[in-house]
Amino acid sequence: MSTHAKLTYEGKEYTLPVVEGTEGERAVDVSQLRQSSGLVALDPSFGNTAATESSITFIHGEEGILRYRGYPIEQVAERGRFTEVCYLLIYGERPSPEKLREFRKRLTYHTLLHEDMKKFFEGYPANAHPMAMLAAMFASLATFYPEESTAVDDNIARVIAKSKTIAAFAYKKSIGQPFMYPKNDLSWPANFLRMMFAVPSEPYEIPEVFEDALNLLLILHADHEQNCSTSTMRMVGSSEANLFASLSAAICALWGPRHGGANQRVIEMLEAIQEDGADLPGFLDKVKDKKSDVRLMGFGHRVYKNFDPRARILKRAADRIFNELGISDPLLELAKRLEETALEDPYFVERKLYPNVDFYSGLIYRAMGIPTSMFTVMFTLGRLPGWIAHWLEMKTDPSGYRIHRPRQIYAGPREREFDDRGTRHM
Ligand code: CMC
Repeated sequence: MSTHAKLTYEGKEYTLPVVEGTEGERAVDVSQLRQSSGLVALDPSFGNTAATESSITFIHGEEGILRYRGYPIEQVAERGRFTEVCYLLIYGERPSPEKLREFRKRLTYHTLLHEDMKKFFEGYPANAHPMAMLAAMFASLATFYPEESTAVDDNIARVIAKSKTIAAFAYKKSIGQPFMYPKNDLSWPANFLRMMFAVPSEPYEIPEVFEDALNLLLILHADHEQNCSTSTMRMVGSSEANLFASLSAAICALWGPRHGGANQRVIEMLEAIQEDGADLPGFLDKVKDKKSDVRLMGFGHRVYKNFDPRARILKRAADRIFNELGISDPLLELAKRLEETALEDPYFVERKLYPNVDFYSGLIYRAMGIPTSMFTVMFTLGRLPGWIAHWLEMKTDPSGYRIHRPRQIYAGPREREFDDRGTRHM
């Protein structure tokens, strides 16, 4: 492999180092290019820019590969439990049984919300979107737990433990039911399900199939390298904003329909197609019409150009879960027909557009009784360990880190005079 690339510009040659990752990906290091040549790299939307070297997650978009710390997602999804995956992503290795017990204990210790935080929920309108509440609650954690360098591990445990309590309280608020407090002998997913669906006066048995399904969904969402919300987490963290503020910003980035908000939009799209008589070719015509702003939600990905391994796992899981529950959902059948129809259409084939993780996840959440407005919250709960892992990786980088500060190519007006138009008192 060549260790350098050469750039010729205005008769001068510049030598740029080539960096190779452990899976053979190569990048030209342009970090010193401006100093030597006066040129900066222009890459709108960062489609071809590696923002960092990272050891957390590997994706091969053409081959549909996703690995957490080297472990294939298929194996982690089949054999892992969410708490262990959190530890793996954040601390780099699988924990010993003793370390896992200790980690679980710390998560357990931190599941309660400060009673004063409960009052915040009272101020929101009943129809408030839970993502707005979640973002605000995460930022508010900073008012209760000031960031100190000695408390990093405690704050990480707090976030993972309290996130499910905050999410379940946001749901209870929206339906006007009393909050359920955590019950800490339960697993992370079971504890969440109980806080969501139990009511104080009634016994509640957590269906094992839901606990396992949620465990799977959380794991599949746990990390996805430098996506929009993770890049936001690193960006905000690079300014030395605290962990809670950085997470709140990442939550807001995830909320958008091109990112984590897509799972909510997929179900809304399927419902609309069904109401319109399930005319799939007619709907796809609208998607393909460049004058319309209709997109096939749950399809396409910046990195995957063959298939999204998470979508494959979820499609199979949806079938299994629906079988186990002995239920059927016409939207699942509609989704499968929509996928088949789209994958036979040259528009989607030529653009390499395939179902992504959001295409089938919502159907499973629906089967569990989780309302559509909570879907992106579910994505958030799963993605927390990934965001934290990236934040910690940046913070503990032995070579340090600088504030993230992209440059631009200015394309506005040249200098002009701001003349006095007598508007001083207007
Ligand atoms: N429906 C219709 N056309 C699409 C779609 C779609 N879902 N996705 C991409 N295209 C077209 C796009 O119009 C463009 O066509 P052309 O070359 O003719 O202009 C071409 O495919 C390339 O698309 P792009 O917009 O350059 O792709 P991107 O990498 O910028 O965007 C994406 C990726 C995920 C935002 C986009 O595919 C999309 O909006 N998908 C629907 C929303 C969605 O499902 N998001 C969840 C992503 S997976 C979960 C996560 O990690 O957030």
